[in-house]
Amino acid sequence: MTGARLAGRIALVTGGSRGVGRAVAKRLAAEGAAVAVNYRRDAAAADEVVKAIEAEGGTARAYAASVDDPAATAELVERVHADLGPIDLLVSNAGTASRGTAVADTVPEEYLRLLRVHTLGPLALIRAALPGMRAAGRADVIVISSAIVDAAPSGGAAYTMAKAAMEAAARTLAHEERAHGVRVNVVAPGLVATEMGERLVAASVGGAIAELDASYPFGRVARPGDVAGVVAFLASADADYLTAQRILVDGGGPDVPIVSGG
Ligand SMILES: NC(=O)c1ccc[n+]([C@@H]2O[C@H](COP(=O)([O-])OP(=O)(O)OC[C@H]3O[C@@H](n4cnc5c(N)ncnc54)[C@H](OP(=O)(O)O)[C@@H]3O)[C@@H](O)[C@H]2O)c1
Repeated sequence: MTGARLAGRIALVTGGSRGVGRAVAKRLAAEGAAVAVNYRRDAAAADEVVKAIEAEGGTARAYAASVDDPAATAELVERVHADLGPIDLLVSNAGTASRGTAVADTVPEEYLRLLRVHTLGPLALIRAALPGMRAAGRADVIVISSAIVDAAPSGGAAYTMAKAAMEAAARTLAHEERAHGVRVNVVAPGLVATEMGERLVAASVGGAIAELDASYPFGRVARPGDVAGVVAFLASADADYLTAQRILVDGGGPDVPIVSGG
């Protein structure tokens, strides 16, 4: 138990069944929040997260809903409200990778697929949750984006665009919702050791993610818990005066060599 900075809070973590979302769900629960663990397909993985939280004395429930389906997410907000109470901490984490094609070869449907998962769906979910969040006095929307927005690597346009669009919407929302006490912040991880991270490494540089640990400045690729700790901080009273921020969780990024003559 880390403490009870989030006692009394009601959190929804989308994609809370695996990877970053699982670590966030567990961390928020350890800090006292009741946690709705959303997932799309893997009910067993979501149930495991719920059981692990309950075993530590926390409160959690699992909810199936695909974040790219506005009707499903509106219903999700209602179900969480009925079971746990109005959501005052929404972590928009669920996500999926793009097919990795170059812009020259990417069809509009691929852009739309990624925009639905990372931008349009989450915005519909936020819209559904906002009335309850405004009424809470203090509430948070925390968007898990990606450091990839800064790097814009080849083959990543559909994913990068969708993350960048959500970041823009999140900053706008942050400005709009201040009067209602709703903080909106973005957490942008670099590579994280999750199933998605494993797939990204296999498809780009090849091999397993663990093989990259030694080449990272802190001796390891980020773990899901590195992201979860930042999310818990942002949701806590310690971050009362933070909104419209984007926090990179990338270990400081690559070291840039001094270029002579500069
Ligand atoms: N891993 C990285 O290197 C990295 C780096 C930067 C940012 N990110 C971002 O961090 C977030 C989490 O990624 P991760 O690495 O933890 O991914 P992951 O290991 O693949 O887990 C993805 C989670 O999202 C859920 N999910 C996927 N599509 C969904 C949908 N349409 N509706 C609801 N839930 C859905 C999955 O549930 P099911 O299993 O039920 O489908 C699962 O719980 C994503 O937004 C990702 O873009 C990841």
